[in-house]
Amino acid sequence: MKFPHSFIEEVKYRNKIDDVVSSYVNLRRAGSNYQGLCPFHSEKTPSFTIFPNTETFHCFGCGAGGDVISFIMRAENLEYPGAVELLAKRAGLNLPDTGEKQNETQKRERFLSMNREAARFFNRMLYESHAKDAREYLTSRGLTPAAVKRFGLGYAPDSFDSLRKYMRGLGYTDDELKTMFLCGRSERTGNYYDYFRGRVMFPIIDSFGNVVAFGGRLLGDGKPKYLNSSDTPVFKKSRNLFALNFARKACAEQLILCEGYMDVIAVNMAGFPNAVATLGTALTPEQARMMAKYTKKVILAYDSDEAGVKAAKRAIPMLTEVGLEVKMLRMEGAKDPDEFIKKYGATRFKTLLDASQGRMDYLCEQVLRKYNLLLPDEKTKASAELCHVLAEVRSDVEREIYITKMAEKLSVDPRSMRNDVERQRRRAAKEETAEVRRKIVSDTLGYGDRINRDFVKNARAARAEEAILGILLLRPELLSDIRRGTIALAPTDFLTDFNRRVLEALLASDENTDLGVLASDFSPDEISRITRMQVDRAKLTKNDADVLWDHIRTLKAEAPIATTGDALADIRELINKKKK
Ligand code: GTP
Ligand code: MN
Repeated sequence: MKFPHSFIEEVKYRNKIDDVVSSYVNLRRAGSNYQGLCPFHSEKTPSFTIFPNTETFHCFGCGAGGDVISFIMRAENLEYPGAVELLAKRAGLNLPDTGEKQNETQKRERFLSMNREAARFFNRMLYESHAKDAREYLTSRGLTPAAVKRFGLGYAPDSFDSLRKYMRGLGYTDDELKTMFLCGRSERTGNYYDYFRGRVMFPIIDSFGNVVAFGGRLLGDGKPKYLNSSDTPVFKKSRNLFALNFARKACAEQLILCEGYMDVIAVNMAGFPNAVATLGTALTPEQARMMAKYTKKVILAYDSDEAGVKAAKRAIPMLTEVGLEVKMLRMEGAKDPDEFIKKYGATRFKTLLDASQGRMDYLCEQVLRKYNLLLPDEKTKASAELCHVLAEVRSDVEREIYITKMAEKLSVDPRSMRNDVERQRRRAAKEETAEVRRKIVSDTLGYGDRINRDFVKNARAARAEEAILGILLLRPELLSDIRRGTIALAPTDFLTDFNRRVLEALLASDENTDLGVLASDFSPDEISRITRMQVDRAKLTKNDADVLWDHIRTLKAEAPIATTGDALADIRELINKKKK
């Protein structure tokens, strides 16, 4: 959708980039810029930079960049119109009326009411006579009628297309049903069938109360045990959490993160509405950021089996990265919270919550239990592994506390342990810098260049093009000179497709274009690249028409000699003339 240029300008004017970003990233002043830890990749030394002069951001680590709108697109996982809308709201601006906007909203609302109807259908089915097995299954798992009601559980009948028939009756099309993953289509016969059949249905509800997706569990054993909706226009697995609609109202102190839907429901029934679960995938950084918006502390209540421990170890750094305090539930005698509560009751579960272990104690214990510390050989291995764990701790005080503690456990001199940890920290820092450098080098050289695929083929020209575009973004008034023909440059002079598209977009707008306008036509990664062109130029002192001319000359000198038959004939003719 296209917003008027003046509206975008107003939105950007009222949403200063440092102000907006500071609610996502801790920013420190660095000269006229700001720096912080990049929210888009994991790093320990800040390479994420805000340039208030150009109202842009750029990460020298991962290359992400853009203006305040592209920042919101990335940070909130929104499309361009959604990001503009969010920023407009933030600044108290009303959205201009455009037909397209209404279409988008209408489509979204239709999908959401479709899901709501489906959830109602599933819930009604649960009380039909044919759903006896489903009701018995829920009872056998200890779910009370109140819990079924609270979570809006339902039953997808074991029939070919009963949901489809019902939804068609309400006026929804097969195509729409398929888009929402309520129906699938047989490749062989072309017939549409219900995606969920013979399953207990768990609606996934977002924090606004919309039904955005479903999970469905088989009544007995079989594969797949759970079936979940894939991503749709109204749902991203990586950006939603099961039961967040309840938990967000009760999580001031802490959130309990479980692995399964059943765990969340059991924990709720035990009196803790502050439980959530991921949607059948490993925790994502986006989900960690979402949790950090609602609370300061997360108790990990993953399964106690090997897979659960592995998943927890992966989740811990993601959670601490966004500033959450992480505690671990130490569950013994049960494989998951659901089983624990059923076996030992809600009171014991509360005791478990209160006694949850700090993440450092947990991680150290995971190492220590692997080794027999009475054997020197194993003790050395344990110590080496502990040093890796300890080197990851960012707080000096916390690191020191655990060095002392672990040295005591291994009965070694804390000083030797400290030396080893420090050595490991230096090595890790060096690796991080090297990684960042590799990335910058490979980006600049264009190896593995996904954005500008022609870069390597025409490196010299492409660099000149990037310089030209960078200057034009810094000095948009020069664009008018190109439009008027005072500066002789046309998109056809560019040798690489991507840069040509950028120049075309810049010239197409009849006003002074900036990144805010480009963001509607380019992907976030492309915007990052374009921002880097601007950032690279901004570092240099001279960015005027003269420099622009220099680069245009370089570019024109790089233009390939035409090799068509005619051109070759022309050249031969020229040579012959000279000879005469
Ligand atoms: P039960 O107690 O056996 O009903 O399951 P649970 O809630 O304890 O879940 P479990 O720990 O087995 O799995 C955790 C989560 O992973 C589930 O809630 C599902 O979201 C997801 N999951 C489990 N099995 C499958 C599967 O076969 N396919 C998919 N896509 N996801 C699954
Ligand atoms: Mn379970």
